[in-house]
Amino acid sequence: MNILITGGAGFIGSHVVRLFVNKYPEYHIVNLDKLTYAGNLANLKDVEKAPNYTFVKADICDYEKMVEVMETYHIEGIIHLAAESHVDRSIKDPFTFARVNVMGTLSLLQAAKVYWDTLPERYEGKRFYHISTDEVYGALELTHPEGIKPPFSTTASSSEHHLAYGSEFFVETTKYNPHSPYSAAKASSDHFVRAYHDTYGLPVVVTNCSNNYGPYQFPEKLIPLFINNIRLRKPLPVYGKGENVRDWLYVEDHARAIDLIFHKGKDAETYNIGGFNEWKNIDIVKVLIRVTDRLLGRQEGEDMDLITYVTDRAGHDLRYAIDSSKLQRELGWEPSLQFEEGIEKTIRWYLDNQEWMDNVTSGDYQKYYEEMYRGR
Ligand code: NAD
Ligand code: DAU
Repeated sequence: MNILITGGAGFIGSHVVRLFVNKYPEYHIVNLDKLTYAGNLANLKDVEKAPNYTFVKADICDYEKMVEVMETYHIEGIIHLAAESHVDRSIKDPFTFARVNVMGTLSLLQAAKVYWDTLPERYEGKRFYHISTDEVYGALELTHPEGIKPPFSTTASSSEHHLAYGSEFFVETTKYNPHSPYSAAKASSDHFVRAYHDTYGLPVVVTNCSNNYGPYQFPEKLIPLFINNIRLRKPLPVYGKGENVRDWLYVEDHARAIDLIFHKGKDAETYNIGGFNEWKNIDIVKVLIRVTDRLLGRQEGEDMDLITYVTDRAGHDLRYAIDSSKLQRELGWEPSLQFEEGIEKTIRWYLDNQEWMDNVTSGDYQKYYEEMYRGR
């Protein structure tokens, strides 16, 4: 099978590319990425020479190029991750988010349709898999500020923490109610994907996942930014009172879910992906400080005074909480890592890979493409 993965040089995309290249030597994996500030080919150093892997530098908004890539590589399956992904940036520059997340997705959908329409078997054996987010559902109430035991039984339930901060969860039928320009653009792209199924019969599947954490995340996002700041003893800017709740999933568990759904998910279905792992931001920040201090040989908790409360994010969603029981029930997926284990593994990775972090924060990582791919 020839599979196009968009946004494969980003955080989640690089884990998906790595998984597919290693697990499916019989597939040809084409990673298409524009290499914006968030794209980093150093995330894929270990697979870049694999015989079943090709990198293409291109913009998903370039429709002609998308058709050319579909034809050149005889693409049969698409896993679409390329997007502008950071909420704070979307507040400053909403146009870019509409252009990339909406028009870019539309350009890819149309390119897939046009190319697959030329084939005798048309949509038979084809799949357009769109990766979306839980943020499209809006925000949930924080009805239990101290946390309650949630009504679900999962692997993650053995986690020491495992509390829910409200009685409601996002399910696949929850009405869309996005609040930020980022989530509004993602919601719009989800609608286009479903419209291509309903109008043209394009074989699509959509997943909405909660917050991911793990190696190779760009240090503008909470977890890698704060780990690096703790290491450098820089202030930790907690928005508002730190009371907002996010539902965290280890990135490799997301990649495993994507693999499963790409191969076994039902046509035109939506699946929620999440680990039943809700945390208040302030609690997660304290865990980050304690574990980072310990791993750096400092006294555990000695960096608590780095916590700095700053002006809240505009339109800051209070709580996200995913109910992923459909995916567990129908396809047998479960998160494999407890949070305590995943977060320690993640912190250790960032501390052991300071060169990666320093390259990203200095901007040097953007030279990697020129060095690796010039003349190819
Ligand atoms: P990221 O910002 O780390 O990576 C995005 C990648 O897309 C980068 O490699 C970037 O270069 C590429 N890209 C951006 N614009 C492009 C364009 N015009 N053409 C081609 N490539 C382009 O993002 P991420 O956190 O890995 O998220 C990946 C996807 O998963 C996104 O669609 C996001 O909405 C979704 N998602 C993310 C999370 C999360 O917690 N990070 C959770 C749920 C869903
Ligand atoms: O829920 C899935 C979404 O998770 C994805 O769709 C997005 O692409 C991804 O960026 C993420 O969005 P969030 O806005 O939840 O992630 P972020 O890491 O930016 O922030 C997590 C929480 O921490 C959020 O409540 C805001 C807060 N925060 C964030 C930063 C960067 C702070 O308090 N201080 C900070 O400096």
